[in-house]
Amino acid sequence: MSVAGKARKVTTHTLLEMKASGEKITMLTAYDYSLAKIVDGGGVDVILVGDSASNVMAGNDTTIPITLDHMIYHAQCVVRAVDRALIVVDMPFGSYQGDSKEALSSAIRIMKESDAHAVKLEGGSEVVESVERILSAGIPVMGHLGLTPQSIYKFGTYTVRAKEEEEAAKLIEDSKLLEQAGCFSIVYEKIPAGLAAKASKILTIPTIGIGAGPDCDGQVLVLHDLLGITHEFNPRFLRRYMQLYDEITGAVQNYVSDVRSGDFPNEDESY
Ligand code: KIV
Repeated sequence: MSVAGKARKVTTHTLLEMKASGEKITMLTAYDYSLAKIVDGGGVDVILVGDSASNVMAGNDTTIPITLDHMIYHAQCVVRAVDRALIVVDMPFGSYQGDSKEALSSAIRIMKESDAHAVKLEGGSEVVESVERILSAGIPVMGHLGLTPQSIYKFGTYTVRAKEEEEAAKLIEDSKLLEQAGCFSIVYEKIPAGLAAKASKILTIPTIGIGAGPDCDGQVLVLHDLLGITHEFNPRFLRRYMQLYDEITGAVQNYVSDVRSGDFPNEDESY
């Protein structure tokens, strides 16, 4: 807390300072007002309005179908809730690949219509022109390398990436390219811990890992996984802090039983 008693807001510069001083960065996803308020109040540094909303919120098998309009809607809900955290919004599949002009207009729409603070996009050398163009408009960009779920049909599986030397070398080169282009941070998803540690040492910008071991400068998880709402998703990297699927099921079953038995509402709960 600052002297004025208000929580200090996290900026992209805060994250760079945190890396420099060895302070770990925390990032979680949120897609709606109510949970974003809890996550921000819990003290997380970065809230990612992830395109994992496609799976978690909309029930799609992949992140491919989510649209720019959907992402802007989720970002607007999150922005209304948050006082302290830096809010980063995923650019959805098809809104930035291949055409840097379109990438810039997509990023501008996200920033203008949601009031979020930064965008994230997947890929290295293939998207560096888009990254540079977005940055030229003063919009902060977070990179995302390793397992990039928007390319699932190219990879074919969600297994660990960059285990082979060639792919590991490309990841290091792409990381340097993104840093040189001006990205303020890079997410590493599902890569060997040793590779993430090596890349995090080389870069001056912070790395945020998901399934990338303990030596990234920060960690990110999908909130619904951490809370145990998505109970069928069990990757090795996931630590569940709650089992909400079971808790919520129990609460719903108790409600159903109370209504059916006439126990709810009782006299105190009536006017
Ligand atoms: O969309 C998302 O939730 C993400 C995280 C897995 C980093 O990109």
